[in-house]
Amino acid sequence: MDLAKFVKEVLNAPYYRTRPHEVMRYAYAKWVYQKHRMEDPLEFLRQLGVDPKVAMDGYERWRPMLADACQRIKDRSGLQGGISMEDGAVLYGITRSMRPKNVIETGVAAGMSTSFISAALLENGTGELISIELPVDQAHAGQWDGCHFAWPDSGVGWAIPQSIKEGIANRHTLVLEDVRTALPRILAGMKSLDFFFHDDLHVPSHMRWEYDLVYPKLSPGGFLLSDDADYGWVGFCKSLGLPDSSFNNIQRLTGLRKPLTAAKPAVNGSLAAKGAQLA
Ligand SMILES: C[S@@+](CC[C@H](N)C(=O)[O-])C[C@H]1O[C@@H](n2cnc3c(N)ncnc32)[C@H](O)[C@@H]1O
Repeated sequence: MDLAKFVKEVLNAPYYRTRPHEVMRYAYAKWVYQKHRMEDPLEFLRQLGVDPKVAMDGYERWRPMLADACQRIKDRSGLQGGISMEDGAVLYGITRSMRPKNVIETGVAAGMSTSFISAALLENGTGELISIELPVDQAHAGQWDGCHFAWPDSGVGWAIPQSIKEGIANRHTLVLEDVRTALPRILAGMKSLDFFFHDDLHVPSHMRWEYDLVYPKLSPGGFLLSDDADYGWVGFCKSLGLPDSSFNNIQRLTGLRKPLTAAKPAVNGSLAAKGAQLA
């Protein structure tokens, strides 16, 4: 771990500045993710129980325009927060292999994750995406994680390739509202959710709240993925009794697949979801 970078990150984040014990947990979580880090998106998909061949079907058609969008984001000044091509391949692969009826993502910014998920939904020819992002007048408000994103200058989702934007328009809902009010309401109106991707506010208590809220709504065989996993994911996986493989990650993008069969109650009364992630 790069100590200087870690100290700078912690000092920049109001959340950690005021919670010294959380800093220790964050350092521990970073060490855990370092130990379980993977480089190859296809290997990551495989350990989630996804066949990479099925997952990456059609990807080559979209890859050049997605790479171009990634590059346009890199070339911009200011914090854009977009996911990498490797992370994007994972989102495409899960969406393509599962053919979800519905997907929710939190945190849109310039729109990289939206682009990868939408490309796979277009390839599938079915499935809807709901994206939740702050309204523009709240986006610059000081955030707990110290991040100030630059997307309000160019518009939310500004990097999404035009053909993806137009293609997915009828199956995409952009909700500009704080996720803390939007997500509970949206989930309450759904019978079940096939795929959830977290990429909004990166502080452990908020992320844990999202995972806990989403997991019961996840359909059997559904996926819960999280970017920038921290101690929130560690605590969540421990509460479900998951094995260490649930900390496998690519650049701290991690996730699990909900078991297809109902979990047995654990001794402590919580749901035992051991084996949720196919090792
Ligand atoms: C890391 S960026 C998202 C990057 C995006 N997923 C991509 O791949 O391009 C995080 C985003 O979460 C948004 N965000 C932060 N707190 C939020 C909240 N409480 N509700 C909704 N969105 C939030 C920020 O405005 C920011 O645009």
